[in-house]
Amino acid sequence: MSKEIYLTGITTTGTPHIGNYVGAIRPGIAASKDLSTDHFYFLADYHSLAKNEDPDKIVRSTLEIAAAWMALGLDTRHAYFYRQSDIPEIPELTWILHGMTAKGLMNRAHSYKAAVAANEEGGNRDPDKGITMALYSYPILMAADILMFKSTKVPVGQDQKQHVEMARDIAQRFNHNYRETFVLPEAVIGENTAVLKGLDGRKMSKSYNNTIPLFANEKALRKLIMKIKTNSLEPGEPKDPGDSTLFDIYKAFATPNEVADIRKQYAEGIAWGAMKQLLFEYINEHIKPARDEYERLISNPADIEAELKNGAERAREISVPFLARIRDAIGIRPLG
Ligand code: TRP
Repeated sequence: MSKEIYLTGITTTGTPHIGNYVGAIRPGIAASKDLSTDHFYFLADYHSLAKNEDPDKIVRSTLEIAAAWMALGLDTRHAYFYRQSDIPEIPELTWILHGMTAKGLMNRAHSYKAAVAANEEGGNRDPDKGITMALYSYPILMAADILMFKSTKVPVGQDQKQHVEMARDIAQRFNHNYRETFVLPEAVIGENTAVLKGLDGRKMSKSYNNTIPLFANEKALRKLIMKIKTNSLEPGEPKDPGDSTLFDIYKAFATPNEVADIRKQYAEGIAWGAMKQLLFEYINEHIKPARDEYERLISNPADIEAELKNGAERAREISVPFLARIRDAIGIRPLG
């Protein structure tokens, strides 16, 4: 069997939070230590255009996400670590794939449908109000990301599974219409990776504004943890770990033995204040070494830039010749 190729993108909107860490960064870095497989991790900065984000925010987010992966120990000599916009073959392939994508397929994309539904609920006469073509054809850009590097496995959250299936459809159609060119990718949904809850008990997400930034400084981290929603049970009353954001977050960081101990403390009625303090100390200790490195990197953006440029150079050793083959397949060729 040929080598598995793992690839995943991170949209450059927002600051990395502990939900991203537990759900994507930590498992990604761990997986990339397996030298029998190849790994591509990239900053999906063109994807961030779908929502017309403030340019300075995109730059900042790109810097922070790159610094986070590097500070946490991604081995960038083995893994390919790059910025999407440094690979001009990706937007070029995106356009080529537009020719292989049924408009009806895009109509069915959950993210587009959700935007239309929001307009309809809001009583807008135009259901497409505020929806850009970049949002509409977002899955095609994502297909280009995936197909360009012949990815076999695409680790994503549940919400992105449909996009990977669309990439597969588009690839199949291309292979059928032209010649066998693309590898069919498969989504990998991390079943063991926790989906963390945020401060208010809903899923931790930048869109809910309920996140705990991964590299918040000590003071800010403590303040945020103290804000996590609990119920009104008093100290001494037994508490249910099955219904506790504090417990869920602790569990995502701690060892099984430590978790078993906290379970006992819940049964014995640990006070919420004490649990918050304990969680703060635990996460702070866990994150501290990487946070120091993160801060160093953030104040040396040229080091990050060099790393990304290097990653793009390696990735283009693949994308440049592959795009030449793709163009040949569709009849965009030199004359004579
Ligand atoms: N759309 C993905 C998200 O929002 C990010 C992404 C862009 C991606 N390109 C990708 C994920 C390619 C996997 C593969 O999470």
